[in-house]
Amino acid sequence: MSPPSGALAAPPAEELPSSPQPATSPLAAGPQLQPAGAELPPGGPELPPGGPELLIDLDRLDLDELAVRHDTPFYVYDLAVVERRVAALRGLLPNSFRLAYAVKANPNALVLEQMARLGLGADVASAGELERVIDAGFDPARVVFTGPGKRDSELASAVSVGVGLITVESPNELRRLEAIASMAGRRIPILLRRSLGLESSGAPAAGPAEAVRIIGDEGAGKFGMDVDDLRASARYALDSAQLDLQGVHAFGASNVRDAAALVRHVGQTMAFGRELAVELSFELRVIDVGGGLGISYSDDEEPLDLDDLQLGLGALAQAWAADPRTAATEVLVEPGRFLVGPAGAYVTRVVDTKRVRGRAIAIVDGGINHLLRPALVGQPQRIRRFGTGSGQGTGEQVTIAGPLCTGLDILAQDVPFGPPEVGELLAVLDAGAYGFTESMPLFLSRPLAAEVCL
Ligand SMILES: Cc1ncc(COP(=O)(O)O)c(C=O)c1O
Repeated sequence: MSPPSGALAAPPAEELPSSPQPATSPLAAGPQLQPAGAELPPGGPELPPGGPELLIDLDRLDLDELAVRHDTPFYVYDLAVVERRVAALRGLLPNSFRLAYAVKANPNALVLEQMARLGLGADVASAGELERVIDAGFDPARVVFTGPGKRDSELASAVSVGVGLITVESPNELRRLEAIASMAGRRIPILLRRSLGLESSGAPAAGPAEAVRIIGDEGAGKFGMDVDDLRASARYALDSAQLDLQGVHAFGASNVRDAAALVRHVGQTMAFGRELAVELSFELRVIDVGGGLGISYSDDEEPLDLDDLQLGLGALAQAWAADPRTAATEVLVEPGRFLVGPAGAYVTRVVDTKRVRGRAIAIVDGGINHLLRPALVGQPQRIRRFGTGSGQGTGEQVTIAGPLCTGLDILAQDVPFGPPEVGELLAVLDAGAYGFTESMPLFLSRPLAAEVCL
């Protein structure tokens, strides 16, 4: 089931100037590819990293009007914030870095159109996501297809639309892809994905970035291959007329707010790719370091330090530029959460209030059927109250519970904003990534939430 696309029309598409690119990889060959940091039209946003411009500003919206127009609960995404976050990230990345938006973070059609318009590539993990990005106007040559369990039919779709890269996750998948490519009479650009343990996943040394890991894993081993299998697969690919080995992929941890850990992961991935390329005598054209750039979900979480990230990646890029083996290697980054998370909010209305065993409870009309992440990960998200009911300012703690028949359906516990009144609107912040699509919309057969794009 695909969520409804944006309820409001997107702003008119802004054409980006195209500039010639060194065709170092199939992704680079696409007309939409721009050097990182150089693709905004003159007069585009010039922003310091961080700051309020990089968050949706609910105070400038008429939430009551939106609630009447679209009914509650609904998601709202600010595409201008998405654009500014793309610009902020591009502004700090070295020139050899390219962005492919991780569609799984938010596959809303208007969000995808915005990313395509901004000239990003796309990282897809299923034929469904592939179809969505083609519909949204991405150039297939700028799409990378990564993920475990790709069916033959999905590989065949990717081959037939001509995606720029397929990331192969196992020796078995490599052979299936070769057979499919052979039937199609095509030579397919591939990356080989390395399985990462927690220590090399990009997670900070202190432990995983997410308390419960929804993205990636450190245990099951479903992502990528062991180094021995990867090396054998690389040899196999280099001998195959159907497979065009471009480089390696490694990604294991999401929501990393430790710039040093992210830089370490990028450095280790390049070092691994370089070693393999030297050993097997092939040209390392691409390394794909996945996503993982984190955001803060609560006021006491330090945000990712973008200055440190810029410095760390800049130092790596300088060293690579001086090495003939890596000077022309392109680095693909697949951010999801960082680009869209803070651009979105989930707005819901209070339908009931009560006290149970002395504690204030507000029941709202939306819950984990649309926004499961706080319950799933055990990480509360900021929630704001927009009403002016009498409980305001008392500081009393309230539990905000959704309408589903399960005790898991709690949006926030012990929020100190005083008991709201029936009819007030509440907004869960930072809900633009892994919100709707990570949820359980069929439970209790309630309507899907609208998704409003500004
Ligand atoms: C292969 C791949 N790339 C990129 C991402 C995006 O990660 P994030 O949202 O942390 O940037 C994911 C998330 O699961 C992924 O699996």
